[in-house]
Amino acid sequence: MLATSSFRVLNSFRRTLLSRSLQTSVAARNIPSPASFPAPPPPVHENPSLKPEPQQPLQQQPDANPYPSLDNAATTNGPTTHFGFRTVPEEAKESLVKQVFGAVAPSYDLMNDVMSAGVHRLWKDHYIRTLAPGPDTTLLDVAGGTGDIAFRFLDYVKSQHGSMGGAKVTVVDINPAMLEVGKKRAVQLGHSDPERLSFMEGNAENLSQIADASVDAYTIAFGIRNCTHVDRVLAEAYRVLKPGGRLAVLEFSSVNNPLLAPLYEFYSFNVIPAMGDLVAGDRASYAYLVESIRKFPTQQAFRDMIVDAGFKVEGAGWEDLTFGVAAIHSGFKI
Ligand SMILES: C[S@@+](CC[C@H](N)C(=O)[O-])C[C@H]1O[C@@H](n2cnc3c(N)ncnc32)[C@H](O)[C@@H]1O
Repeated sequence: MLATSSFRVLNSFRRTLLSRSLQTSVAARNIPSPASFPAPPPPVHENPSLKPEPQQPLQQQPDANPYPSLDNAATTNGPTTHFGFRTVPEEAKESLVKQVFGAVAPSYDLMNDVMSAGVHRLWKDHYIRTLAPGPDTTLLDVAGGTGDIAFRFLDYVKSQHGSMGGAKVTVVDINPAMLEVGKKRAVQLGHSDPERLSFMEGNAENLSQIADASVDAYTIAFGIRNCTHVDRVLAEAYRVLKPGGRLAVLEFSSVNNPLLAPLYEFYSFNVIPAMGDLVAGDRASYAYLVESIRKFPTQQAFRDMIVDAGFKVEGAGWEDLTFGVAAIHSGFKI
């Protein structure tokens, strides 16, 4: 019953999103989105990392604590951060995020298709087209998980340039379970040449294995909102890029359409956790994923963080996808 009604909601969403996403991606290019979702967030300070905790709408209280390691969180005296809608000690967040992606790894790709009705594929295709890598581009795909961006990068280079030239991509992720799925998919998809594609366990906040000024492009898709210190992630991106190199961030963002906003709100907080339960047997991890989207800075605030990290941005600095459900932010190391 729930599956049937969820499927209907999904299908109608899919039709709306598919028909509007390409329109939006062109029409909204470089146009700032003033509105935010679901309720206007509190004022964003100059430094978004200092912004106050947003007030939670009443219906969005966290579920009962599924993470035992959070039980002592309230007693900490040290710095805190958010993990979804919960406040946790900063040092706890990384392992909590690891628990989430360790749990969802086996069903991650299936759930992406189910939750977005396949729209994430269009966003990722567009993301790589926007990056427009050349035949010799070296890419670092951070928080690369099961390899979606890396595979698209290699496929794009081959189809656009006829041959692979010197193109190569390194996928870095903090979670070995996600990387293991990625390695298996690489073999299945014919991307098993280690000279072209490699997988590396590492933290986006400290890419000590990657040399300064060593890559042409840096991508991070749906990963940065899970990191504890977004400013450190951006600083590392800046360090590893060559002069002239490009940062491209694909992330969920703030919906700017007043008609879509309440539907998206309902879908996010009611349908997605239920789907997580049904499809992956894991409601809590998918509730976290939705909550973490709400805690991520708005398009403008994130663009300001990119500029603060030293990047040059063109125009508004981002492109909204599907009314701001997701956005691509770009910056250049000049
Ligand atoms: C939503 S998945 C995105 C995977 C992939 N980029 C995609 O678009 O399908 C988020 C990924 O970020 C990774 N991640 C979270 N925190 C990280 C960190 N600090 N450093 C590196 N990876 C991290 C998770 O392990 C997970 O694989």
